[in-house]
Amino acid sequence: MVELKNVAKRFKDFVAAENINISVESGEFLTLLGPSGCGKTTTLRMIAGFEQPTEGEVWVNGQMVNHVEPYKRDVNTVFQSYALFPHMSVFNNIAYGLRMKKVPKSEIKERVEKILKLVQLEKFSSRKPHQLSGGQKQRVAIARALVNNPKVLLLDEPLGALDLKLRKQMQVELKHLQQELQITFVYVTHDQEEALTMSDRIIIMNDGMIEQIGSPTEIYERPKTRFIADFIGETNLFEGAVTRMDDQFVYVNCASQEIKVHREFTSDLSDQVSIAVRPEKMKILPAPDEELTAIRGILREKIYVGSVTKLIFEFPNGQHVTVNETEGHRGMSKIGDQLYIGWHPKDSVILRA
Ligand SMILES: Nc1ncnc2c1ncn2[C@@H]1O[C@H](COP(=O)(O)OP(=O)(O)O)[C@@H](O)[C@H]1O
Ligand SMILES: [Mg+2]
Repeated sequence: MVELKNVAKRFKDFVAAENINISVESGEFLTLLGPSGCGKTTTLRMIAGFEQPTEGEVWVNGQMVNHVEPYKRDVNTVFQSYALFPHMSVFNNIAYGLRMKKVPKSEIKERVEKILKLVQLEKFSSRKPHQLSGGQKQRVAIARALVNNPKVLLLDEPLGALDLKLRKQMQVELKHLQQELQITFVYVTHDQEEALTMSDRIIIMNDGMIEQIGSPTEIYERPKTRFIADFIGETNLFEGAVTRMDDQFVYVNCASQEIKVHREFTSDLSDQVSIAVRPEKMKILPAPDEELTAIRGILREKIYVGSVTKLIFEFPNGQHVTVNETEGHRGMSKIGDQLYIGWHPKDSVILRA
């Protein structure tokens, strides 16, 4: 439905995006995720047609659209600033685009009413934007894009202005809406949790480049680069030297311990590598275990954060490691205890620097 082929965008000699290759399936929810300034909006604007690529091709619905005007593309955009007309009612805001296209009056009424129902704003159709809450305004902005029956909806941080609770509620609503209407969504956010919650696939961008494309599980469980392991969630990083390999595992010497990682979860095989293990994949072991990688550490700190207790251990090389405890022995260990921390080789990855 949307394809970017070797796209680059430069502003004078500043590179905002480079080597962008993206292919979005029909009906897919695809998210561009990355820190502020990494090139997400620029990429989205090239799909919308508000920005011309310096290099490469943009395709929408089987057509090369580099030279097609934004309003003639099969896409609609929802911006973070809702950009509603303040003097117009909700109904008229939504109807505006259809009127411009000279859609017959009776059809406009029918289509706007249907969309109002879909976004649960039937009762608000005659209100003006200033008489609406942030979440309601956001729904109007989305309704105004949806009423055009776009093949593709582009959304740039559409929930950014909402408070946390409302944002979470809208995430679920928006995802349901997308599934119900089977519209292709290209969604931009810097919020990792939002991306993990909503997307079929996530594209991680960093400094104008794509770092990884994958499902939320792949991105979270098998990050390929150090940047991603750091950016998404919490992680423990170990540095070490590769000592040997066999058919199944790569062995890394770290803090005079051997850590093994499945070969298939290895994105780098230089001499010095970084290994990532999520805090919730680490467990306190009663004794060392053949199956697991186990390192002995001293418990230095316990932090209770409600859903988990974070245990901070010091390993023999002085490194600190966080273990998230949920159930089981939660809270049983004491500061100063010497304990084995273990994890399964399948829960560790070797990252690219
Ligand atoms: N019109 C422009 N002229 C010059 N630089 C720009 C322009 N638009 C964006 N940039 C720069 O390109 C980079 C990427 O911007 P943007 O795509 O808006 O990032 P994001 O949406 O990921 O925060 C930023 O460093 C930004 O300052
Ligand atoms: Mg942006």
